[in-house]
This record gives sequence, C-alpha cells and structure tokens, in this order.
Amino acid sequence: MSQLKETGFAYYDLINMIKYEGIETDLEKLTSAFDNLPPDEYAPHLNRYRRYARAVVMPKTYQIQWLPESEVDGKAYYEYFQGSFNPEYTGEYRRFPSLTKETMANRLLEKIIRFDFKETFWMREDALMPVHAGVHFVKLQVEKEGDVAISSPNNLHQDGEPFTFAHLIRRRNILGGMNAISNPSQRGKMPEGLDEKDITTSFYLENPLESYGVYDPLVTHYVGEVEKGDADGPGERSAILIDFQPTVIANPDEVRSMRGETKEMVFV
Ligand SMILES: [Fe+2]
Repeated sequence: MSQLKETGFAYYDLINMIKYEGIETDLEKLTSAFDNLPPDEYAPHLNRYRRYARAVVMPKTYQIQWLPESEVDGKAYYEYFQGSFNPEYTGEYRRFPSLTKETMANRLLEKIIRFDFKETFWMREDALMPVHAGVHFVKLQVEKEGDVAISSPNNLHQDGEPFTFAHLIRRRNILGGMNAISNPSQRGKMPEGLDEKDITTSFYLENPLESYGVYDPLVTHYVGEVEKGDADGPGERSAILIDFQPTVIANPDEVRSMRGETKEMVFV
C-alpha cells in the first residue's frame, strides 16, 4: 500500500531508506551547495536563497536527464513558469540561477529524484512521455534576532503540480519552520486558525534527509516562518524541493510553434 496514494501525504526518513557506499560524502557536498545560493531575486526581503534545475525522468527505466539551461550575461539560468496556483506569482515567468554542474552530477541527488519519482503515480496517458522534475534548492536564512524568513506562499496551499517532495538538508539555530498538512478546503488559511480536526498532521523536519511528499489534489501544505534561534551566528533551514509534472503532447491549437511566427522561432 502506498500512503501517498491513499492519503495524498507521506513522510519519509530517507537517511534510512537510501543506503549506499559514499552517501556521507555526497550528502556533505549537497549540503555545502547551500552555502553559496544566491538571494531569491523575486523575494530578496524574505531572507530566501535559491537555485533551480529541470530534469526529465523516463518511466520504467528511471533514467534522469537534465534539461539545458539558458544563458543570460554569462550565467546559467532555468526559466520557470508557475501555474495559476501560487497567488503571489500568478501566471508569471521567472528564472532562477541554475544548480551547479557538480550538484547536478551528485549521486545522492539523483537517488533522491529517483526515489521520489518511484513514489508518483499517473494516469496511463500522462505517463507516455518523460516526466518533468523541477528541482529547487531553497534556503531560509536569518542573520539576526527579529529577522523572519518566509516560504511562499505563506499559507496552506496547493502547488498546482501533481506531486511535490521536500527533503530537509540542514536545520540549524532556528525557531519555527513548522510543516502542516490539511485538506483542499482549507486552502489559503493559516494552520493556527484551524480546528484541530482539520489539521491532518503537523511536524518539524529536523534531521538531514527527513522528507515528505504530497499528491497535490488531495491535500494542502504549509511551512511556517523561520526566526533565528538563541545560539550565536545565523539560523538556517535548507531543503530540496522536487516537483513532478507530466510532459504530455499538447493540443496543436495551444502550441505557440503552430502560429507560423518563424522569425521568433529558434533552433534548439
Ligand atoms: Fe508548496
């Protein structure tokens, strides 16, 4: 039985589920990738830092292939389109600095993507093509007392992608960052305002590779704001978020490349 399929939510302690020779070194490298994340230029005041990359995963063989980046002023980016579900960025194109090549080649990252993908389930017609995986490295960092780092959107929400998985990489010297899961009817609300019966579960990810996944249509999810803890130095909550969506063959009427605008079109 798949808990994710039954309830739309599952918790995983991946450190006990992915085991291989060399995992410690790979985890160290993934962790240090969070030391040089650039500020999220779409939300610089939220103390949020991030990189992103896109891959496709082949059904059955589980082969993972990173998609090519775009280059802007000599820097590698991935363009990103967020569907209509994130109220803060409705229908906008954004672009994020790319994960480094070294990170994309990290064996543990590949195993995590593959683990998540194997948890996903699809209507047959949606799984005829490779599945798109969006891989976000997101760090909330608070430098001094009174600073607050906020996830987006800051309420119980759905992502609009069929599946999202969150993998904690590092949590240190912070207060907050509570995760909560509820049902779709509570979308847009804060967990504090809900009856206890409407909170499916709430928890804190504390240790490296503590993880959870959601099948978006069945649940809403939330991660609370983060403040600096009592110890000296900054506080940090770093996580890898991976979302999956199908790459179905589009209806020709909806395909921009069918409009005959050859001057705008490029060889890829
Ligand atoms: Fe989300």
